[in-house]
Amino acid sequence: MEISLKGRVALVTGASKGIGFAIAKTMAESGAKVMLSSRKEDQLRAAAANINGDTEVFAANAGDLDAASKCVDATLERFGAVDILVNNAATNPYFGKTLGVDESRFAKTFDVNLKGPLFWSQIVYERWMNEHPGVIMNIASVGGMRAEIGLGVYNLTKAALIHMTRQLASELGPSRVVGIAPGLVKTDFAAVLVDNFGETLAARLPTKRLGEPQDIANLAVFLASDAASWITGETYVIDGGAGVAGSA
Ligand SMILES: NC(=O)c1ccc[n+]([C@@H]2O[C@H](COP(=O)([O-])OP(=O)(O)OC[C@H]3O[C@@H](n4cnc5c(N)ncnc54)[C@H](OP(=O)(O)O)[C@@H]3O)[C@@H](O)[C@H]2O)c1
Repeated sequence: MEISLKGRVALVTGASKGIGFAIAKTMAESGAKVMLSSRKEDQLRAAAANINGDTEVFAANAGDLDAASKCVDATLERFGAVDILVNNAATNPYFGKTLGVDESRFAKTFDVNLKGPLFWSQIVYERWMNEHPGVIMNIASVGGMRAEIGLGVYNLTKAALIHMTRQLASELGPSRVVGIAPGLVKTDFAAVLVDNFGETLAARLPTKRLGEPQDIANLAVFLASDAASWITGETYVIDGGAGVAGSA
């Protein structure tokens, strides 16, 4: 089995660091041309400089649909295609009980985490995948599948993203729509959890370690490749075994 993205063009949101960077880098190393997007151009340029491959960068807030449109156009102009869209950017401005959230942080969470993936997908589909079937990949979370203390609002967006993956897969075939639901991965986004509970959590996992961005990138490249051409609509949990670990 060959896993290659040779000749493909990928657009990755939230690509300047963490999981998005690992996905962009591994896709480029697997042969794809990659457009990296996130909000800060200087960080994007620094990230791209660490990737060995054909890359470009475009600064865009994932919740800003005008910026999304411009980023997709820039990708089409630079690389002539968008075969793989990775909706990875997400935000979590609120930690606390679900009913304690205020309207503005609720809106921001949904704008970036759910509205963003839907409309980036719409734009890419209308301008490219409708005529040239490709792969839309949504980075969700295991939190979209179960209740967690403090993360209720963020997890609502991830649960909806998992369902959006199913729904769009049913509507957009033969383009494929797939999801990844990571457990705790060592990135800045999860730094508070990793710093406070990382060691204890890792010890409880069957794999005895927390996730690395590269673990997620490996699955992302497989799901984007032709080796996964009969997979669509599903979201794959990758959590080091957290979901099957017994409690002490
Ligand atoms: N780490 C975990 O444990 C974990 C677990 C489950 C799921 N996830 C999911 O994995 C994805 C990546 O998370 P991560 O842990 O890799 O985070 P990270 O290391 O903090 O990286 C986040 C990336 O997204 C960009 N970004 C943030 N807000 C953005 C916005 N509004 N528009 C565009 N780009 C934005 C950041 O760059 P700028 O700040 O420059 O924009 C950065 O490139 C997210 O969808 C997250 O929900 C993570």
